[in-house]
Amino acid sequence: MNPPHTFARRATAVLSALLVSLFMIVVVNPSPASAAPGPTFTNPVVDTPNSADPTLLYYNGYYYYVATTWSSDVVMRRATTISGLRGAAEQVVVHTGGTAMWAPHLEMLGNKWYLYYSVEQAGGARRTHVSESSGTDPLGPYTDRGILNLMPDNGWAIDAAVLKLNGANYMMFSAFAASDGLQSLYIAPLTNPWTAGAYGTRISAPKLAWELQDGAVNEGPFALQHNGRTFITYSASHCNGPNYKLGMLTYGGGDPLAAASWTKTANPIFQRNDAAGVFAPGHHSFFTSPDGTETWIAYHANSSASQGCGTTRTTRVQKISWNADGTPDLGTPVSTSTVLAAPSGEAGTPVGVRSQYSNLCLDDYNWVTTPGAEVRQWTCNDAAVQDWYLTPVADGYYQLSNSHSGLCLDDKDWATAAGSPVQQWTCNGLAPQQWQVTALGNGYSTLKNRTSGLCLDDYNWATTPGSEVRQWTCNGLATQQWQLS
Ligand code: AHR
Repeated sequence: MNPPHTFARRATAVLSALLVSLFMIVVVNPSPASAAPGPTFTNPVVDTPNSADPTLLYYNGYYYYVATTWSSDVVMRRATTISGLRGAAEQVVVHTGGTAMWAPHLEMLGNKWYLYYSVEQAGGARRTHVSESSGTDPLGPYTDRGILNLMPDNGWAIDAAVLKLNGANYMMFSAFAASDGLQSLYIAPLTNPWTAGAYGTRISAPKLAWELQDGAVNEGPFALQHNGRTFITYSASHCNGPNYKLGMLTYGGGDPLAAASWTKTANPIFQRNDAAGVFAPGHHSFFTSPDGTETWIAYHANSSASQGCGTTRTTRVQKISWNADGTPDLGTPVSTSTVLAAPSGEAGTPVGVRSQYSNLCLDDYNWVTTPGAEVRQWTCNDAAVQDWYLTPVADGYYQLSNSHSGLCLDDKDWATAAGSPVQQWTCNGLAPQQWQVTALGNGYSTLKNRTSGLCLDDYNWATTPGSEVRQWTCNGLATQQWQLS
């Protein structure tokens, strides 16, 4: 119910609103700073402990993520946005029955998903196991399909990943060569997703200086294909030091099982960036943006040169580009303070958020693009500062990211008291940025914050442009009813 307005008060209100609007247009409506369209995020996108050796892919509206757990389980998380991954729940998808599960690889072959991972069992060598989904849902359920026989004498084999080439499927992996004891890259033919047609043949050994730092290693292979060319990118040097890095083999034609079919790039393609505080970047995967136009890399890295192969390694993502000669340019790993625009096609269609009581719209006040930016109400004008991407994060909760700032509507400082402010902050998928949207059936909805349990509120029944929005005990009144359209 609206409080009573006398004509004089209403006229005053209109006049003051007009003056305020003129002032704001003159003084505080600068040409908008450039900002990334859609949600933004900062790395890491998945925090410790289950955050090394990531496989990340986009399928059917969600990003799906698996990584080393060191336990006997393979756990998976999914989110509709990269920034939503950090807060997404881990779901156990495979009980492996082994120990210290390493480097799960998720791949669709035919119309089923396959998880390849290594575990140790009953004191035997660490070997590659495979599980098969019942259908097209990456979350499963999964059936154990046994152990791939990749090396003689049930030998050690890790970091399996699928290569699809010339109409056939191959399994790339890392193993120790009997001839020289070097942990090298191997490839074996697959006669079906769970059967190797022969033992692996070696296609790369750590021989170059940059592959020998802290230990001679080639592991973590991942296929990258673009414009008809095929590359195998892999990790080199030992993960127990800061010089773990990525190298690349280029397919030159011929039998993929023959070492001669692959040419090693003389220098690393992705490595430590001390100035950015990124060390030992490696054991990666690649994924395509939701609209299919961009290629991204997901990799793990440490934040200190003294960290190693343990649970300090966190997952980071960034976009890659392509050189004129058709080879990938992975660039350099960015710092964890770098704000990145989300992969293209992630956000969907933005909406305005209009208060039923004030008839004003939620607004990135003054076109600010830095974390901590204010959110206020302003005369609805459909400008980018009033466009909000509503993306589901989990069980009925949504992230609201501003089209101009790329920042997310956020319960400032995790507050829980009635009257607490909201702000815009770098999207991180955590509870303070999760809003439960409840449709009231009258064209309006309430927005309740997951952390505070409070509702977005037209504070103090304001009706003038520039008025505050805050959080208040949910009461369903007009000041907490918002039209999302
Ligand atoms: O993170 C566990 C193992 O350590 C991975 O399988 C391997 O790539 C890394 O060296």
